[in-house]
Amino acid sequence: MPEYNRTWLPQAEQFAGQCPAKQPETDAPWTPAQPIDGLDMSVTLAGMTMKNPIVVASGTFGFGREYGKLYDISRLGGICVKGLTPARREGNPAPRIAETPMGMLNSVGLQNPGVDAFIEHELPRLKDIDIRIIANISGNTPEDYGVMCEKLSAAGVDMIEVNISCPNVKAGGLAYGTRPELAAEVTEEAKKHSTVPVMVKLSPNVTDITEIARAVEGAGADAISLINTIRGMRIDLKTRRPILKMNTGGLSGPAVFPVAVRMVWEVANAVKVPVLGMGGVSNGRDAAEMMLAGATAVSVGAACFADPYAPVKTVDELAKIAAEQGLSHVSQLTGAVRPW
Ligand SMILES: Cc1cc2nc3c(=O)[nH]c(=O)nc-3n(C[C@H](O)[C@H](O)[C@H](O)COP(=O)(O)O)c2cc1C
Repeated sequence: MPEYNRTWLPQAEQFAGQCPAKQPETDAPWTPAQPIDGLDMSVTLAGMTMKNPIVVASGTFGFGREYGKLYDISRLGGICVKGLTPARREGNPAPRIAETPMGMLNSVGLQNPGVDAFIEHELPRLKDIDIRIIANISGNTPEDYGVMCEKLSAAGVDMIEVNISCPNVKAGGLAYGTRPELAAEVTEEAKKHSTVPVMVKLSPNVTDITEIARAVEGAGADAISLINTIRGMRIDLKTRRPILKMNTGGLSGPAVFPVAVRMVWEVANAVKVPVLGMGGVSNGRDAAEMMLAGATAVSVGAACFADPYAPVKTVDELAKIAAEQGLSHVSQLTGAVRPW
């Protein structure tokens, strides 16, 4: 383990592989809260109704297997699965996780079993759980996205999240997410081949995120999610080597939260389609703030690595906040910020 400050992730080295959830040390780290009388926690995102607004972010929850051993994941509104590609990918060489002050860098590089293996081995188990399933996809060409949309729609996922914002792969990914005309082309192709709602995931690594948001809305996106990770870098002082083997990676966790809130607010004001907000959300207070900024639903990502129970705790905390504020429906938070 290189010597650099470890301020947030309790077990960083454990996540150098595919980030399995850590077995908690206490017997009862989380006691599920009872539903609150008179409070409706359900939300509808582009026609997809969820029992509550909390989704787990792609790449931070695998396919739910490990976390499902810790708690009943049907307490969540939705699961967005690890990014799928047309064929199996090994991902990038290690080290591919580095800790940062209040966050982490990753350069996992879309390690996944491929879309067909997901449909055969993971999806049937997920469909038995009372949770919305969002399939996150990445391709090298617009046609790749079309092929995967067709297969996943037919296989019965609830929604497709089109990732045009991965900073850790050479082809496709971020190249599509930083140019409005390419972002629109991929969105059109995905829509043409989908029978379920298509959500497009935007990159924060742009000057004006609303430009890309308008382009994908114009191309038919049913919803928009943001933010993906922010490109970053750390260097080991002794070896003078970048800590990540890929030199750079994507920053996530609480460090990015204010940037994410700002971008969600900007995008929610620029488009009519609903927004799934994410970036640094670790608790119910953060989720409420993200909704005030304009998010219809909220994802919890890197926080799962610091505390695998973070997503379910976030559901309970958000309900408590909504009740304390006298709301009858959690969706009353969406867009309710009062800007100066
Ligand atoms: C280890 C890791 C792997 C990720 N893999 C993916 C992925 O496969 N597809 C994707 O769209 N986003 C991926 N992300 C980005 C997250 O889904 C999320 O957009 C980002 O981390 C910001 O949210 P957070 O700060 O709550 O983690 C990954 C993030 C991390 C930390």
